[in-house]
Amino acid sequence: MSRVGRTATGAAAVALTASLPYWLPRLVIALRVRLFARVNGEEGIPAPGREVPVEEFKQVYGHPAANGRSRGAALSDLFWYWLSPGPEVHQEHLEPGPRYDDVARTTRQILAGLSRERWSELVGRCTRRVLDELDEQTGGYGAREHRVRLRDLMMPVWAEVYYEVVFREPCPRHVRDLIVGNANDVVSALKCTSLRHMDRRNRLTAYLRERLASDPPPVPLPSLLSRREQAYYLQGTFFNTAVVQTSEAMAHLLLALATHQSVQDRLLSGEEEDGYLDHVINETLQHFPLFGVAHRITIDEIPRAADPRYRRARSCCSTTPSISGREPPGRSGSTPAAGCPRTPGPRPSSRSA
Ligand code: HEM
Repeated sequence: MSRVGRTATGAAAVALTASLPYWLPRLVIALRVRLFARVNGEEGIPAPGREVPVEEFKQVYGHPAANGRSRGAALSDLFWYWLSPGPEVHQEHLEPGPRYDDVARTTRQILAGLSRERWSELVGRCTRRVLDELDEQTGGYGAREHRVRLRDLMMPVWAEVYYEVVFREPCPRHVRDLIVGNANDVVSALKCTSLRHMDRRNRLTAYLRERLASDPPPVPLPSLLSRREQAYYLQGTFFNTAVVQTSEAMAHLLLALATHQSVQDRLLSGEEEDGYLDHVINETLQHFPLFGVAHRITIDEIPRAADPRYRRARSCCSTTPSISGREPPGRSGSTPAAGCPRTPGPRPSSRSA
């Protein structure tokens, strides 16, 4: 290659690398959405979407026949793969029944165990600790600027918070690292930006199994789950979903605040009416919906207000919409309603981070 050719190739490579942040994220997101749509195939109905308009979303999503959570949706299989170990006991993937009730009750009990004041104290304390560590690592107090990735900054905070919410005692540093390692690995794989590293996830499972055997948390864990499943349950719900969702929500909130100085000032002034911060959070979540696919797999027909023939809506969802359907029990020979192809039958499958 001539010198001019080499220079031109070099310049093109530099330009491509420099422009990566501008086009690569969009490309990855677009690919992910296409992948999801393809995986669910004709079975999936995005809601809200063309078939289920916004006005009908709540009615379809909340209908008793839309109560399947996982089985029968191809996209769920993919999520099981991403979420392992233990996706089969993740609350989002448990089918309605005693095990679901047992697990959902435990989650509520653990989360409701702290008063609002205790939550505020806990989150403030953990945030201060992580920010102090950052100060120490980056030049000590007084250093004016730190470059951080907000999600990476938030994950240790929420790892500590949820550890204490579950075990009601401060999170040891090495356990925090295990939790962050697990949560980071799951969410990066889910976003298609990294491969899975099961060794990181298994290390947390091993810790939790040991901990449950010797010193279980004060809130009794679901009695219908085995000890191994209880460890998976805590890992999936509190040390993956809770840590990831809250860290990402906080990263978005911080970005929103950083780019809206007047809102920041109003919050800092302390003169705003109660609930102002809640409004800011809600609006941020609307602007930057978190990654998530909430499935509903239909088990029977769902009457549609807009369609007098009472078509079957098949499955429903959320920020990355998708829905699938399965054959209602005892109806395997029935003819599907117009526009509603049937799935061959129940099979394991599931949502998100
Ligand atoms: C801003 C933060 C969060 C957002 C935006 C969020 C969003 C969602 C969405 C969209 C769903 C699907 C709902 C459905 O299927 O109808 C869901 C389910 C769930 N989330 Fe979150 N979440 C957040 C925080 C958390 C936290 C902190 C926990 C802690 C335990 C949690 C645990 C769960 C569980 C267990 C489910 C399954 C519920 C069920 O199907 O019974 N989430 N979340």
